Amino acid sequence: MIEIKNVSLRYGDTQILSDVSLTMPKGGVTALVGPNGAGKSSLLSLIARLQPLQSGAISVDGLPVDTTPGRRLAQTLAILRQDPAVASRLRVRELVGFGRFPHQNRRIDAQDKILIDTALRQFDLESLAERFLDKLSGGQRQRAMVAMAFCQATDYMLLDEPLNNLDMLFARQLMRDLRAAADNDKRTVIVVLHDVNQAAVYADRIVAMKAGRIVADGSPADVLQPKILAEVFGYDMDVIDVDGAPLVLHHR
Ligand SMILES: Nc1ncnc2c1ncn2[C@@H]1O[C@H](COP(=O)(O)OP(=O)(O)OP(=O)(O)O)[C@@H](O)[C@H]1O
Ligand SMILES: [Mg+2]
Repeated sequence: MIEIKNVSLRYGDTQILSDVSLTMPKGGVTALVGPNGAGKSSLLSLIARLQPLQSGAISVDGLPVDTTPGRRLAQTLAILRQDPAVASRLRVRELVGFGRFPHQNRRIDAQDKILIDTALRQFDLESLAERFLDKLSGGQRQRAMVAMAFCQATDYMLLDEPLNNLDMLFARQLMRDLRAAADNDKRTVIVVLHDVNQAAVYADRIVAMKAGRIVADGSPADVLQPKILAEVFGYDMDVIDVDGAPLVLHHR
């Protein structure tokens, strides 16, 4: 379970998050949606301790994130950042292997190798494994970053806009992989998405944020309603039903 209690964050005089409380039980896919600047990445970075907690409390699987040793936290939780800094003189296989760092004692062993090869195969990176990261297309690089997060094999995964740069086929495949990680491996996935229709089909729960607050929280059918969408995103859009799932016509 991830427990977020009364978390606020400010930069100087600017309030970024205001008293956010949220509980995510173990297992399942939660999509975090909301407009640019809503505070989605800020919230994820606090959960993963990429920045220090200013007020409130966060725990992951019972571990308080502010006091748990980094290695222990990294064995429990993986994060894919929205804008990862990548060392260009790194090969794809090496990057994916970084996912094993929190688990290995000294060096990559046979079991690590199997997991690295599995992740490379899963994200169609086998033919690119020896390629330097700066010699890849945007979507290929994104797939390598996602593969690293999967390779970490943690019970909790936070993914900040993992569909960025992916073509439609890979985007659908990744959402299916996240669904399978939750259903088959009982992993807990929190994924920031701008495509609410991906959230409609693959998430159990949608949490909508705006201006540093949670403004809606529920099943896709509960949250993806015209009134709520207009409140969150600031314009009117129609919602139709396709095979029992809402489809938001946000582009017209
Ligand atoms: N280091 C920082 N210093 C000051 N303000 C910041 C800093 N990082 C983020 N912000 C501000 O905090 C707010 C929330 O940013 P955040 O990155 O969490 O939004 P987001 O919901 O992830 O948006 P996006 O969809 O654009 O990724 C924004 O107004 C942003 O300008
Ligand atoms: Mg963001």
